[in-house]
Amino acid sequence: MSGPLEPSPLDPAPLDPSPLDPAPLDPAALEQARDQALAAFAAAASLDELAAARTAHSGDRSTVAQARKAIGGLPGPEKADAGKRVNVVLAAVNGAYDARRVVLEDERDARVLVEEAVDVTVLPPRAVGGRHPLTTISERVADVFVAMGWELAEGPEVEHEWFNFDALNFGGDHPAREMQDTLFVEPAGSGLVLRTHTSPVQVRSMLDRELPVYVVCPGRVYRADALDATHSPVFAQVEGLCVDEGITMAHLRGTLDHLATAMFGDGTRTRIRPNYFPFTEPSAEMDLQCFQCRGASAEPGGEPCRVCSSEGWIEWGGCGMVNPAVLQAAGIDPERYSGFAFGMGLDRTLMFRHGITDIRDFYEGDQRFTLALGQEA
Ligand code: PHE
Repeated sequence: MSGPLEPSPLDPAPLDPSPLDPAPLDPAALEQARDQALAAFAAAASLDELAAARTAHSGDRSTVAQARKAIGGLPGPEKADAGKRVNVVLAAVNGAYDARRVVLEDERDARVLVEEAVDVTVLPPRAVGGRHPLTTISERVADVFVAMGWELAEGPEVEHEWFNFDALNFGGDHPAREMQDTLFVEPAGSGLVLRTHTSPVQVRSMLDRELPVYVVCPGRVYRADALDATHSPVFAQVEGLCVDEGITMAHLRGTLDHLATAMFGDGTRTRIRPNYFPFTEPSAEMDLQCFQCRGASAEPGGEPCRVCSSEGWIEWGGCGMVNPAVLQAAGIDPERYSGFAFGMGLDRTLMFRHGITDIRDFYEGDQRFTLALGQEA
């Protein structure tokens, strides 16, 4: 049970007289209406509450408004008197309203200034760039070799056909020279191509350097492939070349195993399978033991592996013993010197290492990709 409602200063004056009812003109009623209005304005805590109080206490249906209307119904002599009284009350009510409004507006302005303050000296958040994952992995591979005393070598991406093909023992009619594989540089017959592999750096290194040669050459290469999830007309390779006395395939195997363990952890093995490249003899395809399942997925009853598609091995690149014809093209005596070379795709390496399924991610320049991979590639 609730008791009778306390009258609130916000409540409108209870009177609702007809327009010509003189009751509102009663001085006591007017004073009461004024006092209620003033109390209601004083109690209004916000501009909304103040607006509501104004409607209630000086709106059309309020006592003061009714009083004004009622003046018209008075006989002449009383009019002036009543009019004065009503005006005094109205002035008090309006004055109180205005004063309260100024106070509440000032309060609101002060509050907005604090709540919606903008620190114009704060710089907008700016994305910080990161190293590209291909840069990071190139450097990691290079570091592995530099730590063994090898040198970093570079060559041009716009390369002469002689370095890209001829000196590497590609015959004039080798299919790799055809338009569908190679991007030729105009005009036709310029003799220039966008290098299709990093192997021309082998030739440049043998020509430029004193023997023995131990170089690692990361770089961009180009092929006339349409861009899709697994092909890109530009991708990254790393080449390795060593030419010295007494170099055998055992050195090649040991070097590849060392790179594999440096990149993928102790015990990661490599294997080589016969293949053909014009510039190496014998030539081999090299596979990396799957670093995820360590080959277990290919065993009978092994758990399937997504990294190597349960093959146990991942194709990593090509390698072989430097073809004596290549040594000769570089002016090196193949009777005295021998060497090995290898080359592998860096995009591919990163793709299986990080479960990336779309090579385009490397070339679209999305900073989120770069930041997620670049630091730890
Ligand atoms: N250049 C070869 C390719 O791009 C890879 C390779 C490098 C093979 C060195 C043998 C020796 O496929």
